[in-house]
Amino acid sequence: MPETLPSLRLLSKLPASVDAVIVGVTDRDGKPVVFALEEFEYLNEVIARTDARSALDTVTRIPDPRDDRRSIIFTGLGSSDVTPDVLRDAVGAAVRKLSGAKSLGIALPTASIDETAAIAEGALLGGYTFTQFQSKPNTSSGGGSRTPLSAISIVTQHKSKTVIDRSRAVATAAKLVKDLVNTPPNVLSPAELAARATAAAKPLPIRVKVWDEKQLEREGFGGIVGVGQGSSRPPRLVRLAYSPAKHKNHIALVGKGITFDTGGLSLKPASSMLGMKYDMTGAATVLAAICAIASLELPIAVTAWMCIAENMPSGTAIRPNDVLKMYGGKTVEVTNTDAEGRLVLADGLVAAEKEKPSLIIDVATLTGAASVALGNRYAGAMGDHAAVAQFVESATDAGEQFWPMPMPSELASLLKSDVADLMNAKVGNTAGGMLVGAAFLREFVGTTPWVHLDIASTANNPGGAYGFTGAGPTATAVRALIRHAERLSSK
Ligand code: BES
Ligand code: ZN
Ligand code: ZN
Repeated sequence: MPETLPSLRLLSKLPASVDAVIVGVTDRDGKPVVFALEEFEYLNEVIARTDARSALDTVTRIPDPRDDRRSIIFTGLGSSDVTPDVLRDAVGAAVRKLSGAKSLGIALPTASIDETAAIAEGALLGGYTFTQFQSKPNTSSGGGSRTPLSAISIVTQHKSKTVIDRSRAVATAAKLVKDLVNTPPNVLSPAELAARATAAAKPLPIRVKVWDEKQLEREGFGGIVGVGQGSSRPPRLVRLAYSPAKHKNHIALVGKGITFDTGGLSLKPASSMLGMKYDMTGAATVLAAICAIASLELPIAVTAWMCIAENMPSGTAIRPNDVLKMYGGKTVEVTNTDAEGRLVLADGLVAAEKEKPSLIIDVATLTGAASVALGNRYAGAMGDHAAVAQFVESATDAGEQFWPMPMPSELASLLKSDVADLMNAKVGNTAGGMLVGAAFLREFVGTTPWVHLDIASTANNPGGAYGFTGAGPTATAVRALIRHAERLSSK
């Protein structure tokens, strides 16, 4: 059974019954000092004899010297200012490393609602585990597995129902993305992903429409049909719509949902194919974002498009040199079947723009080149300058790292084809691969402001856990999208 989120309370006083209490550690004259509510300052008498340090991601657990029924968890807050971002990470790191505690108290001083909210988010995000496919829970699942945490109490003067509702909505969204990405690709077929999207939206004021392969074919979704035709498990398109009575703006979200990317006939080598279950992260992200926005009842209309297919090599698969007729009529020569994300997204972008949204944002694990350009902690944001700048601001506000990347106009001419309107990949030249992906998508967007997020660099945390981020799926972009929708909501 999928696990549920722990309960979350904001209280003026720490409950007597907690199993563990998180306190912060900062630095004074090179020595670790406790950063916590006054009642925990006695810990300064013992801190020198522990391994507690102020460095971020340094988490130390000791029995409480004044109450042996509970433990104290020291978490480093780093040496610069204690910002909401630092608190989110430091609390997340502590929760990730908790083992055996069922009820947790957090005794950090909070100066504002924003700090309280960041602590709540860090605690809920850091507690994520995925053990569904283990017959005996092991320790490497998504950053550590343990007795699931059932209750979190944050001591604060900033008690607000909004903070509780919002941090739960954010954590629920991140968990939905991570659960879907973690689910193995033999289980998560295109039809299964569509069914799970329908189920996730069911309790919310969201209308859902699913296109099966026959409807896709009939209506001319040549990109999605083409990419999906090599698999015995046919493609899907899912449209989710949230349209509250009160709204001014309408944003369309379009997500790449390749449930597994073998590369198709342009087959990936074995080592690059491993991990390609992550290739549906964009679709999971737009689903989770619209669910969070609807559950928070934000006054903004949102339409989310999940472009879902499995990219397999077979006798029915698309070939290099095939020409596809995309939704809306443009034709594309497939020069590389491994550049499939842009083919399914092109259909989604055209369908999304037909409804005249005020902004389109697509989310995709589009290119390996994203990591070459940006490493694994920043994702690329491309498209219309003003729209990109605004989005990056919202992301920063939410504590997420996106970087604006250029979309040089000469790239479009590199994608000219002799037989079709354009081709889906450059041949024999890998320079600026992330930007070329964006340039291809640009051809399928008209005049609507548009942002393209290439999250191939950050969707998976391939290294060690840090802050609230465990190893594996990160749910990158979800918090940024929710924050952006809040900003664009009518007052
Ligand atoms: N799904 C991959 C991109 C990817 C690579 C995501 C690594 C996550 C990690 C995408 O479909 C792909 O294969 N892109 C090609 C494009 C190329 C053929 C123009 C790539 O990046 O090599
Ligand atoms: Zn591919
Ligand atoms: Zn792909």
